Amino acid sequence: MSMKIPFFNKQLKETEMANLESAPDHVAIIMDGNGRWAQKRGLPRIAGHKEGVSTVNKIVKAAVKANIKILTLYTFSTENWKRPKSEIDFILKLPKEFLHIYLPGLIENNVRIETIGDFDALPKHTRDAVQYAKEKTKDNDGLLLNFALNYGSRFEIMHAVKQIMNDLDCSKITLDSLDENLFSTYLYTNGLSDPDLLIRTGGEQRLSNFLLWQLAYTEFWFTDDLWPDFNETTFLNALYDYQQRKRRYGGI
Ligand code: IPE
Ligand code: IPE
Ligand code: MG
Repeated sequence: MSMKIPFFNKQLKETEMANLESAPDHVAIIMDGNGRWAQKRGLPRIAGHKEGVSTVNKIVKAAVKANIKILTLYTFSTENWKRPKSEIDFILKLPKEFLHIYLPGLIENNVRIETIGDFDALPKHTRDAVQYAKEKTKDNDGLLLNFALNYGSRFEIMHAVKQIMNDLDCSKITLDSLDENLFSTYLYTNGLSDPDLLIRTGGEQRLSNFLLWQLAYTEFWFTDDLWPDFNETTFLNALYDYQQRKRRYGGI
């Protein structure tokens, strides 16, 4: 654990935090390592997923305190369908469980819930629980808690390309008007700023098909900590490290 003192610290007054120009607006997290956390304890993998749910709540609370505007959490990937059905079923029940326990607290904290991904292909019980939370929180203007659920970046980009071809076909748009900005509006992340900081827990250093377009200039931060062990202090350390970086975007 780094000994650095984070800017983002519970002791800091809100005004000081708000004045930090280098604070990330949008943090995206690949929450990895649940299965290994459980296996290390001789428990079934699903025990790790269950434990990971309380980490989600801890990090959401920390993000609210740190004045982050958007928190995007990679919850279930389009590739995760390759897992045993019993594990998939368990994971896809967790959004309902999470919301059942934590939705009142999220509402109290002015959090708005949204999702990115192929929502319609999720089981009905998952969609119903998440849709309910979206409706309940749609007017909140605090942290946007964005769950990447059945999300895959290549699927997202292909889906965008098909829609663009269709809109070209029926003259809704012209080829000349198609630029990076217009292309972005066809992605699930339409209207959201690109992530400033990407965190991946669990020791792997790869994207696993997460936000390939949107992460073009994002700062990356990796930790070996498994997701159920990740906590507010580690999160604040990531924010602190981010603040030390110089983003050049190709300039000097
Ligand atoms: C991340 O933990 C959660 C999901 C992918 C849904 P994993 O289940 O991938 O845990 P490890 O990587 O096998 O330890
Ligand atoms: C990435 O983790 C997906 C989520 C965290 C939801 P994985 O565990 O599925 O990634 P790989 O398979 O190790 O690349
Ligand atoms: Mg994994």
